[in-house]
Amino acid sequence: MENKVDIFDTTLRDGEQVPGCRLNTQQKVMIAKSLEELGVDIIEAGFPISSPGDFESVTEISKNVTNPIVCGLTRAVEKDIDCAVEALKFAKRPRIHTGLGTSDQHVFTKLKITREQVIERGVAAVKYAKKFIEDVEFYAEDAGRTDNEYLAKVIEAVINAGATVVNIPDTTGYCIPEEYGQKIKYLMENVPNIHKATISTHCHNDLGMATANSLSGVQNGARQVECTINGIGERAGNTSLEEVVMAIRKHKWLDFTTNIDATQIYPISVLVSETMNMPVQANKAIVGRNAFAHSSGIHQDGFLKNRDNYEIIAPEEVGVEKSSIVLTARSGRAALNHRIAVLGVELTKEELDIVYGKFLELADKLQVIGDKELKILLSTHLEKTLDF
Ligand code: KIV
Ligand code: ZN
Repeated sequence: MENKVDIFDTTLRDGEQVPGCRLNTQQKVMIAKSLEELGVDIIEAGFPISSPGDFESVTEISKNVTNPIVCGLTRAVEKDIDCAVEALKFAKRPRIHTGLGTSDQHVFTKLKITREQVIERGVAAVKYAKKFIEDVEFYAEDAGRTDNEYLAKVIEAVINAGATVVNIPDTTGYCIPEEYGQKIKYLMENVPNIHKATISTHCHNDLGMATANSLSGVQNGARQVECTINGIGERAGNTSLEEVVMAIRKHKWLDFTTNIDATQIYPISVLVSETMNMPVQANKAIVGRNAFAHSSGIHQDGFLKNRDNYEIIAPEEVGVEKSSIVLTARSGRAALNHRIAVLGVELTKEELDIVYGKFLELADKLQVIGDKELKILLSTHLEKTLDF
């Protein structure tokens, strides 16, 4: 089995469903071009029937990107598919993403039809989409809570109808990694025609498990991961692209690869955050403000001796300029001395002891000591002329 994992970015579709994050066509085209540079394999450009704006964005993105597949979402409804086909007409490599709910919850309380009717509708939608576009992905919405035996029947039927990719969404972020991985394994072992399609993961983050679930899916046979930049998306968000890609890169023994140029990760994270007006939490893995900042004395000392003591990723690897040592009341002498040396001042051990005591007094009052405060501290408490 091939070990290349396709990265399907849905920042512009599932990600953009976040309240207050609506983008105009021009902004979406700009992000789509950056996604192409990043090296994603598939861009889900929007849900064309949902609004004239989304239709226009899918059309313009189709015109403006060359290498990635451009995908449009639909319900399992002919008019949605017609609309997506029209919006994708300029795409060099178009894909229709169609489907419906398969969990009892969705079948009986949302769709209000029978399980057999779900299969019929899914099959009909895939066959209809296939008349216009060869590449058709089917999603079994709420697959995370769908009984595996029934899910296998749905998946077998839609592959027979021509689905090239079968998406197994954990729509409500319900699963834990072992459970989600077992689901993918079950499909690999119990769907006779599964080798004719690629299995895709699409995990939401309601329990904070989206990245772990996606990786578990890949370890059990999935070869496409649906994700968003900064993990944005409905409620607690989607699987974060940067986390999946870096977890794969950092665990070479897993032997999976992606096409992603990791050095583009931080620049596109900033672009998405700024364009969508959606701040990234400071401790967000890989792209948060503190992801490469060291603030406690023990960590700073270890980091200064050898950065590998406290960093598993070099910041440059993901396009972050450099790591930082943040001086706080938890910092030690090593970090303080390092920062003072960066300012061009060499201290004796006795001088450092004096400055360190004064530094702690000030740091207890302030959150962070910057270069400005440090310079004042040095000029006030040392009996020598400093030339900053
Ligand atoms: O979470 C989900 O199930 C989805 C589908 C529409 C693919 O976003
Ligand atoms: Zn989703």
